[in-house]
Amino acid sequence: KNISVFCPATIANISCGFDVLGVALESVGDEMIIRKVDQKGIRITKLTGQDLPIETHMNVAGVAGLALLAESDYEGGFEIEIHKKIKAGSGIGSSAASSTGAVWAMNELLGRPFSKLQLVKFAMEGERLASGVAHADNVAPALFGGFTLVRSYHPLDIVAIPSPPQLWATVIHPQIEIRTSDSRKILKTNITLADGIKQWGNLGGLVAGLFTEDYDLIGRSLIDHIVEPIRSILIPGFDKVKSVSLEAGALGCGISGSGPSIFAFSKGEETAKKVAGAMKEVYKKIGIDYDVHVSKVN
Ligand code: HSE
Repeated sequence: KNISVFCPATIANISCGFDVLGVALESVGDEMIIRKVDQKGIRITKLTGQDLPIETHMNVAGVAGLALLAESDYEGGFEIEIHKKIKAGSGIGSSAASSTGAVWAMNELLGRPFSKLQLVKFAMEGERLASGVAHADNVAPALFGGFTLVRSYHPLDIVAIPSPPQLWATVIHPQIEIRTSDSRKILKTNITLADGIKQWGNLGGLVAGLFTEDYDLIGRSLIDHIVEPIRSILIPGFDKVKSVSLEAGALGCGISGSGPSIFAFSKGEETAKKVAGAMKEVYKKIGIDYDVHVSKVN
């Protein structure tokens, strides 16, 4: 018995929701095949597209799968094939896609003994291996689809938020690698009350805008006073990409996850493509290679 699964790329943080907000991309992601086998444990039998470890304990899908097995009374095991399309260290949830795909498929093959919330917890163990911190803002949208809010980590409480039908994302990945663990180390651990007020105002505004399909409110809320000013220094061309995206009609623009990818949201596919064109020009001029994705969020 086996199952083939599409594992979506995700944009975490979404400017004002550091570690709590994320969204899945409809047409960017990896493929995995999970096989239920008699032999106990988890084996990564094939990994294509990226140079990543295949030892179970070193691989995010392996570790997430082991977390599931530890809570299960199933006596057998699983074999995992991973076909990566998402580049590791690109900032669009590469590790989350693999962790989530593994536990989602295993749960299906076992007859769904676990809830989605439990699957998020297992997949978070993959994130712990990848970044040192078991954050859920990529794995939750990868599992639930659409936007998700991590309302609380202890206890884990995930709120699914609908995707406005005309909301499109443009994501550009300048070809430099930033490890999430490194880009977390440079963050300050304290913020001022004044910055907190601005940030939670925007977060509330963004969530309200998503529910009411108010694209202007979404745009006004895509502001990050806390993390972006620090992390954007690591991303060449960031300020320019942001300004040309907004000029091209984007609702807002920010760092995707821990970077270096930069995302912009637009109303409609046409604007999202125009934004992609404007973003590309920036890196052509600087002389940095890039990948660009235009996708509906979902
Ligand atoms: N919230 C995490 C971070 C996402 O920004 O470090 C990493 O993809």
